[in-house]
Amino acid sequence: EKGDFEHYMLKEIFEQPDTIRDTYRGRIRKDQDDIVLGGLIDVFPKIVEANRIIILGCGTSWHAALVAEYLIEEYARVPVEVEYASEFRYRKPIINPGDVVIAISQSGETADTLAALKMAKEQGALILGICNVVGSSIARLTDAGVYTHAGAEIGVASTKAFTAQVTVLTLFAFKLAKERGKIDADTLKMFIGEMLAIPGKVESILLKHPHIKAVAEKYKDAVNALYLGRGYLFPVALEGALKLKEISYMHAEGYAAGEMKHGPIALVDDNLPVVVVSAKDDYYEKVVSNIQEVKARKGNIIAVVAEGDNGLRSMADDLFEVPESHPAVASLLTVVPLQLFAYYIALMRGCDVDQPRNLAKSVTVE
Ligand code: M6R
Repeated sequence: EKGDFEHYMLKEIFEQPDTIRDTYRGRIRKDQDDIVLGGLIDVFPKIVEANRIIILGCGTSWHAALVAEYLIEEYARVPVEVEYASEFRYRKPIINPGDVVIAISQSGETADTLAALKMAKEQGALILGICNVVGSSIARLTDAGVYTHAGAEIGVASTKAFTAQVTVLTLFAFKLAKERGKIDADTLKMFIGEMLAIPGKVESILLKHPHIKAVAEKYKDAVNALYLGRGYLFPVALEGALKLKEISYMHAEGYAAGEMKHGPIALVDDNLPVVVVSAKDDYYEKVVSNIQEVKARKGNIIAVVAEGDNGLRSMADDLFEVPESHPAVASLLTVVPLQLFAYYIALMRGCDVDQPRNLAKSVTVE
């Protein structure tokens, strides 16, 4: 089943051009001017009226939720809260009747997410699910939902499920923005075009795997790694760090780049690789100054940059280039080199990539 791939994780990383396409296929109208989320049609009027959207998940699914928070607030202008299901279920949160609660779960079986949803349902919220596994417990419990069509994900480290989740959430955010009258037809069309271009761009990133492997070779013996990003790329920093720590056992932390000077900068020395995830967005100049701060302390910069970004090229020790895109969809591209980077480092450290120690594919106990 792994075909020519040494591990499921590698196969799943390489499947992403197809899985992203499968996830949006049938959900973008033929003339590319509207988004149709079949599973939500009946409840969409309620979603449009929502006072607040709460998104719950664990691990990688929680990272996808963070991307959605930024998208929904920026474009649909609905207040969003993202929370770990494990916190939400126990902290006596306030849930009002007009709230919409969305659970994100690849497996649809994560115990904390399921329990948090049950609680929200009991308190009268409309509950929705974004799951990969058809017929899973969360999919059955929810009032409505959207499946990510990523296919079975076997590797414990979530890869193609994350990009599928972000794809669904992006479609959801722009559909909601449209139905709430917050974006015009041309803007919607522009974003649909951005989405349609993602699979081809991911393919071009995957072709660069020999370079990513060579960079991994340089850093494979590091003890710690720091991942930084801002805006839409802050969740990518978290996700890149999670991938590295769970499969290679190298300690890695993801941080909002603006927080660096509030603590993590103390870690920077000539042994620390700092992965900076960037795009040509409003934060660009700030990211440049973060890099300068790291370089001044002799840290090693691995920069994920948009192709043709010559500004960062001269400052970084190593570069992972990704094709240019609108910043709102850049998470779908910038995460891919970080998945591969984690994979190669784990491989070089002799780790069991598909079955990392102490971890289960789906966490069905607390
Ligand atoms: O099946 P779920 O999406 O609910 O799983 C959530 C997390 O357990 C999962 O994303 C976990 O963090 C992965 N191992 C990350 O790669």
